[in-house]
Amino acid sequence: MKTLVILAHPEVEKSIANNKILNDIKENIDNVEVSDIHSLYPDYKIDVEAEQQKLLAADNVIFQYPFYWYNMPGILKVWFDQVFSYNFAYGSKGDKLKGKNFLLSFTVGGPEESYSATGYNHFKIEDFTKPMEQTAYLAQMNFLKPIYGHGMVYIPGVYNSIEVVEERAAQQAQRVIDTINGLKEKNAEGIIKGFVKEWFSNFDIMSEDKFFHPFITDQSVFTFPEGRFEGQKGFSDWYAETRKIIKPNNTHTIEKIEVTKEQELFDVQLSIDLEADTTSGEQLKMKVEESWKLVISENGKVEIREYIVRPL
Ligand SMILES: Cc1cc2nc3c(=O)[nH]c(=O)nc-3n(C[C@H](O)[C@H](O)[C@H](O)COP(=O)(O)O)c2cc1C
Repeated sequence: MKTLVILAHPEVEKSIANNKILNDIKENIDNVEVSDIHSLYPDYKIDVEAEQQKLLAADNVIFQYPFYWYNMPGILKVWFDQVFSYNFAYGSKGDKLKGKNFLLSFTVGGPEESYSATGYNHFKIEDFTKPMEQTAYLAQMNFLKPIYGHGMVYIPGVYNSIEVVEERAAQQAQRVIDTINGLKEKNAEGIIKGFVKEWFSNFDIMSEDKFFHPFITDQSVFTFPEGRFEGQKGFSDWYAETRKIIKPNNTHTIEKIEVTKEQELFDVQLSIDLEADTTSGEQLKMKVEESWKLVISENGKVEIREYIVRPL
């Protein structure tokens, strides 16, 4: 999963809060690209094509900026006006951003209590982010709950200390990191569930072994009731024997699927009901439990590391 950070800060060299958040994001989220739009386009002449390409390549888009006059800095507004164009972000063919995650992460100078009906800022922060929320909806993007921190302004001798602002920024960064990494896990779970379904529907029709090979490497180990098999060759040997016994058009019903993550490995626990006709004319009904260990690469490809089948 790729994450694009659109950093919009007109004075990034003086920034404390946004700089801290940006650095923490870069250190703790994999596959991140940063587009520092004020440094790239100090004359506000946005390279629309380049920015659209960055968006197309991303799954998650984080907008990182300081809250300016209850809104975003001007450079980000210009960026939206030009990059979220007709037939790209909206319009009859404007579905290019569909399904991508949209996350606002901004730093707020004023204290929390000022953003209430009785405070001097009168409105809640979420009242000020409504136009962005609707922008995301129109672009068919997935608008996530905005992440922001208060009291981020540092004026020597007047407001806060550098240490306090940096600590608040670190807390905000952690919430951004947790949100993005949580999305990655949810996404991985979706990929695995799709893969499991596809895998068994190909067993149902007894597809050629070339369907199964892309998910198998030299490191893949299969433990079937018939024995232990390694790599594509081992799988194919087992499968050739199985195809001699089980007829196509059988049914594998996935009764249970549980996915947990252990370091970079995904542990998948499955209960499968198999109903099949054998080539010798018998009806086979059996329940098996399976434990798989999978790896998902950055481009979403699934690789089997361990595959254990236990008949019940
Ligand atoms: C032009 C400008 C406008 C600002 N407007 C607001 C505002 O409307 N509400 C608020 O709470 N803080 C406001 N602030 C304070 C900034 O949000 C704060 O300085 C910033 O979040 C600190 O982040 P940084 O250290 O990355 O610059 C404003 C600051 C500037 C310079």
